[in-house]
Amino acid sequence: AQKTGLALAWITLSDKGSQGLRADAAGPAIAAACAESLTLCLTQGHILPDEPGELKALLVDLALTQGFDLVVTTGGTGLSPRDSTPEATQAVIEKRLPGFETAMLLASLAKTKHAMLSRAVAGTLGQAIIVNVPGSPKAVHETLAAILPAIPHGLDKLR
Ligand code: MTE
Repeated sequence: AQKTGLALAWITLSDKGSQGLRADAAGPAIAAACAESLTLCLTQGHILPDEPGELKALLVDLALTQGFDLVVTTGGTGLSPRDSTPEATQAVIEKRLPGFETAMLLASLAKTKHAMLSRAVAGTLGQAIIVNVPGSPKAVHETLAAILPAIPHGLDKLR
């Protein structure tokens, strides 16, 4: 049967968030931004510590086993010692999407020079698109606004 919408999974990478020491606003911001510009049939959220092994395993499970269409991670893209989201993502993706990375960077640089500190990666795994965005809710909205318009066509091409 044809699905009526896309299945979205978001993952917040935060040592403090994963221990319950910090409320997660960025994950729900991803859900809100995606619901605004895409038709979703399912949204699932996760909070992980900044542990690349855990992130790699979850990305593979969501994309290849559970069949999510879009997986958006938030946080861990910068230069802090434990920031490892881009490395974990690069380790599992099959085709990198430098156009997505550039679109997010250009949109973000128009907002803040600090945008150049993000190392966010995007790519495909199976029939899913995986995108890293920075950890603040503001950055979530600024980056996703730049790429969500291309997501439906990109997912069509993956099939
Ligand atoms: N991109 C956008 N669009 N808006 C922002 O406010 N903040 C930057 C950058 N990218 C920002 C942004 C900052 S201050 C940092 S340190 C890096 O993303 C990395 O953020 P992360 O470590 O939370 O992933």
